[in-house]
Amino acid sequence: MKIGICTGGGDCPGLNAVIRAVARHAILNHGMDVYGIEQSINGLLCDPPAAKKLSLMDVAGIIDKGGTILGTSNKGSPFKDPQKGAEAKAKAFKNWKDLGLDCLIVVGGDGTQRMALQLHDAGMPIIGIPKTIDNDYLPTDISIGFMTAVDVAADAIGRLHSTAEAHSRVMVAEVMGRDAGFIALHAGIAAAANVILIPEIPFNFDAIIRAMDDRRNRGRNFSVIVVAEGAREEDQEPMFRSSATGSIHLGGIAGEVASKLHQKTGIDTRVTVLGHIQRGGAPVTLDRILATAFGVHAVDLAAKKSYGRVVGYLGGKITDMGYKEFENGTRSLSLTDPYLHAAESIGICLGR
Ligand code: F6P
Repeated sequence: MKIGICTGGGDCPGLNAVIRAVARHAILNHGMDVYGIEQSINGLLCDPPAAKKLSLMDVAGIIDKGGTILGTSNKGSPFKDPQKGAEAKAKAFKNWKDLGLDCLIVVGGDGTQRMALQLHDAGMPIIGIPKTIDNDYLPTDISIGFMTAVDVAADAIGRLHSTAEAHSRVMVAEVMGRDAGFIALHAGIAAAANVILIPEIPFNFDAIIRAMDDRRNRGRNFSVIVVAEGAREEDQEPMFRSSATGSIHLGGIAGEVASKLHQKTGIDTRVTVLGHIQRGGAPVTLDRILATAFGVHAVDLAAKKSYGRVVGYLGGKITDMGYKEFENGTRSLSLTDPYLHAAESIGICLGR
């Protein structure tokens, strides 16, 4: 068999670990040829296709490397426009056939998997592997990259405590996560944040100020607030800002929280926006392990010609689900999430 693999969407730590696992298991145990498709599915739209045969040496020494040796793209779907999309699909099919591939393993979040499903529906055998630091792709409890993002964010937020205490300030740290609060909640708990604001619970300044006052009454004249980029005040919309290149992204809410808290209480506030640091560098060990298990499972599915399925981690098991068995989209934190309950139970204010 000949299988292809590509990585799509925003990069995250663990992508190289999954490429390595797919290549090693496919070559060593199944005698397959493995082709790396570059820059996400876009590699199949180039003339000639941007693809290279991967050897064991190509994937040696990369389990702990950030980024992706195949490159990636999160610039939207080439299949969006009906006419150009049909041409793009035809090109992808031609290149896929010319390369002689039996199937394509697509590592990506909801956006990339939606494109993959379109190719699958048009007849290209696809197997999906979920990755996203946001942890918001539906068919899995944990996605590749999430645990590293939490670790990086928790380390950074933890460092804010001592400087906040030294200056009796409120430190507001903004973390990524799009419309879900997984990174904010998990990193906030691990870093002993005093307040965690997530998109799923629109916040109220009175609740935050009450929490800060309670701390002051206990002699703690400083606070650390973690806010997810998609969080919003009650009756307000999420905030967006434009990047240096003009693209629009969620962000800016930490500045808003810091300045409103200063206006309302007079306390000195500072803002830290963690940004892409959460996506860069070496994956933590748990991401390397998850990526390895996901990659191996995907190759086993390919060997059985069990296509149209997405690998996942559910109920403590590595498993897989048909694209058609779930809505191929995002999820957010459930309000009955046990970690939300844990956070609030130990006195972390969730802004309500
Ligand atoms: O989906 C991953 C993510 O890092 C989000 O948390 C964030 O909103 C977005 O990507 C940033 O995208 P870009 O790489 O285009 O700046």
